[in-house]
Amino acid sequence: MSNYIIETNGLTRRFGQHVSVDHIDLRVPEGKIYGFLGANGAGKTTTIRMLLSLIRADEGSVQIMGRSLEKDREKILRNIGSLVEGPSYYGHLPAYKNLKIICKLMDLPEEDIDKVLDIVRLAPYKKQTVKGYSLGMKQRLGIAQALIRRPKLLILDEPINGLDPAGIQEIRNLMLSLCHEQGITIFLSSHILSEIQSIADEIGIIQNGKLIFQDSIQELEKKSPTKLFVRTENQQEAFRVLSSSGADVVLQGEELLISLNGQMDQAKVFHLLQPFSVQHMRESTASLEDIFLALTGTEGSL
Ligand SMILES: Nc1ncnc2c1ncn2[C@@H]1O[C@H](COP(=O)(O)OP(=O)(O)OP(=O)(O)O)[C@@H](O)[C@H]1O
Ligand SMILES: [Mg+2]
Repeated sequence: MSNYIIETNGLTRRFGQHVSVDHIDLRVPEGKIYGFLGANGAGKTTTIRMLLSLIRADEGSVQIMGRSLEKDREKILRNIGSLVEGPSYYGHLPAYKNLKIICKLMDLPEEDIDKVLDIVRLAPYKKQTVKGYSLGMKQRLGIAQALIRRPKLLILDEPINGLDPAGIQEIRNLMLSLCHEQGITIFLSSHILSEIQSIADEIGIIQNGKLIFQDSIQELEKKSPTKLFVRTENQQEAFRVLSSSGADVVLQGEELLISLNGQMDQAKVFHLLQPFSVQHMRESTASLEDIFLALTGTEGSL
């Protein structure tokens, strides 16, 4: 059995002539947070719908928890909690009642209701009707509805979308504790890298239906060019020497900004700058937005 809780091979879905998901091979490690990134229309929701067997795939296969989704649909889905494109709930009922309905329908133990309300921090509001909840609270109720099934895997489509900064932080903390304390694998989609950058262990990037990157966040960060910010006693002359030696250098305010690469590494920059007495030097790695630009040629919000 593989260590991947989700594994797809050549997963493909077309709508008419348009290939919305184009032969993607997802590898989602167990016990981690996997961030599935892509611009509007990239194919995130279509992929997630196939993972949840809400729509059929045209080609390819899905293995979840070591089983074939086609063959063991029921067994697999019983162990997945999901939230796709917003929660559904009875607005005129309180959170507690909403969860009770799910427990009744699905024959789940009602003792868990208070526990999951506590986890998503809705316990103090459990008797208030849901229609008065904030967007973030409704989103947390959606997650509670997924958690009540005691899932091994949570699949969340844009759980952060539309939340204010405090709401985003709440959901982030919740993801981290669900993963680290309860051992739940989380697969979440987003179209804004910075929203999941701080919590995801593994990143998959989908663009026009194709998976263009899949690896750890560290590997993604490695793709970022390191930059040096340098101040010397003679900036004009240092600039001239560096650029005539082929360095990617710009004068930015008081500092020279040099992008390092294979040809122009830190040692070489030091060597070239020796005659100019360096007063100050600092290093910075590019943001993941810069990496996006390098990977996809589009702006940070994919
Ligand atoms: N039911 C459908 N019928 C026709 N086309 C569809 C259908 N569902 C999705 N598509 C198309 O498939 C492509 C991928 O859509 P999808 O909803 O998966 O993107 P997404 O990454 O979730 O985007 P968003 O960030 O806007 O939610 C889009 O071009 C979309 O128009
Ligand atoms: Mg979507």
